[in-house]
Amino acid sequence: MCGIFGYIGSQNPVKMALQGIKRLEYRGYDSAGIAGVDAGKLRFCKEAGKVAMLEQEVEKAHMHLEVSIAHTRWATNGAPTKENAHPHLDSAESVAVVHNGIIENYPELRETLIKQGVTFVSETDTEIVPHLIASLYQGDFLEAVRKAVSMLHGAYALAIIHRDHPDCIIAVAHESPLAVGIGSNEAFISSDSQAFANYTRDVLFLSNGEIAVVKRGHYEVFDVSNQQITRDLQRIESKPQVSLKGEYEHYTLKEIHEQPTVLQNAFAGRLREEYGTVQFEELKFDVNDLLSIERILILGCGTSWHAGYLAAYMIEDIARIPVQVEISSEFRYKNPIVPHGTFVIAISQSGETADTLAATRELQAKGAKVLTLCNVHGSTMDRESDACVYLRAGPEVGVCSTKAFTNQIVILFLFTVMLARMRHLNRQEGQAFLQAVKALPQQVQAVLDMEKHIADIAKRYAHHDNFFFLGRRYMYPASLEGALKLKEISYINANGYPAGEMKHGPIALINENCPTVALCANKQTFGKLLNNLMEVKARNGKVIAIAPEGTEGLSDIADEVIWVPETIDELASVPTSVAAQLFAYYVALERGAEIDQPRNLAKSVTVE
Ligand code: M6R
Repeated sequence: MCGIFGYIGSQNPVKMALQGIKRLEYRGYDSAGIAGVDAGKLRFCKEAGKVAMLEQEVEKAHMHLEVSIAHTRWATNGAPTKENAHPHLDSAESVAVVHNGIIENYPELRETLIKQGVTFVSETDTEIVPHLIASLYQGDFLEAVRKAVSMLHGAYALAIIHRDHPDCIIAVAHESPLAVGIGSNEAFISSDSQAFANYTRDVLFLSNGEIAVVKRGHYEVFDVSNQQITRDLQRIESKPQVSLKGEYEHYTLKEIHEQPTVLQNAFAGRLREEYGTVQFEELKFDVNDLLSIERILILGCGTSWHAGYLAAYMIEDIARIPVQVEISSEFRYKNPIVPHGTFVIAISQSGETADTLAATRELQAKGAKVLTLCNVHGSTMDRESDACVYLRAGPEVGVCSTKAFTNQIVILFLFTVMLARMRHLNRQEGQAFLQAVKALPQQVQAVLDMEKHIADIAKRYAHHDNFFFLGRRYMYPASLEGALKLKEISYINANGYPAGEMKHGPIALINENCPTVALCANKQTFGKLLNNLMEVKARNGKVIAIAPEGTEGLSDIADEVIWVPETIDELASVPTSVAAQLFAYYVALERGAEIDQPRNLAKSVTVE
């Protein structure tokens, strides 16, 4: 996580750096800082809290810089304090460093430096880097950086400046993304090229320990063995998309409300209705690649993993292909068996999640083809995978994923129909599935129209500190997602559980203070779910049901019902999840929680 930005050129380096880290705030917002060279001296300013707090301090300090680096932090080593905020400097204030990633061998390096007389002022792993560079510096900045970097283990993207070298920034990246943008008589360094795409779209993506010496309109790149290498600039096509809150109090609410439109975008131009199938223009695989799939492995984290879990049910039900779905952070440390015919689907809104990226790299090394589903054009996973299907959800600013999730479900469903049509599904069956997809935007709008009713229920239950979300089959991953939404933005303990498992232990927690949100939209298992809800009721548990219109049997069981339009089981998680998102939003609002940027979280999780 963490966002790095650097600027050298004829525009105001202070202004450019602050603007840059504001765009990177989705990567962390615990603290922020800026440093640069001014008349042969390093000047810096740091603040705990968001970039807006730093801006106020910078203004008071009247900073003028010739070159700048800046950082917005998501704390890993050390609490989110001003002392631990980046940039970090050596004791003589000659070198300043901003860092994204984790330096795993920092305890040993720190010990060695302490023995040499160095005093540390922060608890971070990063602080060893400026001290190391300063101790190795003998007039050659690049040489000192090279030697220091060769001693680091772990994942790191670094931007480094030296008070004696105001004409350059040195950028280093190893298993952590870093982009260098080259404009006319200026240059940028950023964790995300979108942060400077308004100024230049000529970009170089560093990787594998490469070091770049970046000057105004110019760069040189060196590989790990210190050889200068030729790296051409790539032109990124997409312009940064800007999202404004408009009439909404929070981005999260705005993004929940955008779902009818973005769901439409998810399938627009992709349906081949006459043939009851689907075509993705980004899917570069040929028919034989897709026909030879014998097994699918799906990877993701958090909400993206929940979408993958739903897809596993869909693909096995409809396309009859065996599916394994894995949490990337667990999978990457397995020694995976990847039999011939395995096709990998990596799901990531951001396209930058470190665990999913590492897992897919390992699978590609084993020869598997990787299809990524992601929302961000030009992200690392977009660039590295064999093909990428875009979610078309538009920028998702709220840390809590909402519209990206429902678009993931729809795209995975469309992919399923396509695979099934290539195998056994007949045209009429395919057409019926496409009709169900086309009805979703209107059905989701109907859920949004019940906002007031959902908000009233949320207010009445917002004082509870524990919730269960229960469902069966498709409603089980949906219950995991519903519980995650509530946890993330309202800080309430919520457990998503397969309803049939309650009697194997968790039912011990049910009482009048622990309400259950029952996701009732899986027709095939509804009778079984009703039995499970009766067991909850018998223990004085309150039940809030989210159920398709016309569902019978709930009147004696549910204390509250949120009716959602009926659809097929495979897609029922879409309207159900929108209702659960609104419920979580209004509980969080009632509790006064910070909704768009919840504590301890970040939008893009670029550390393990
Ligand atoms: O960008 P990704 O989809 O790879 O992110 C994965 C998770 O970090 C993400 O879904 C997270 O769980 C969200 N905050 C959920 O709302």
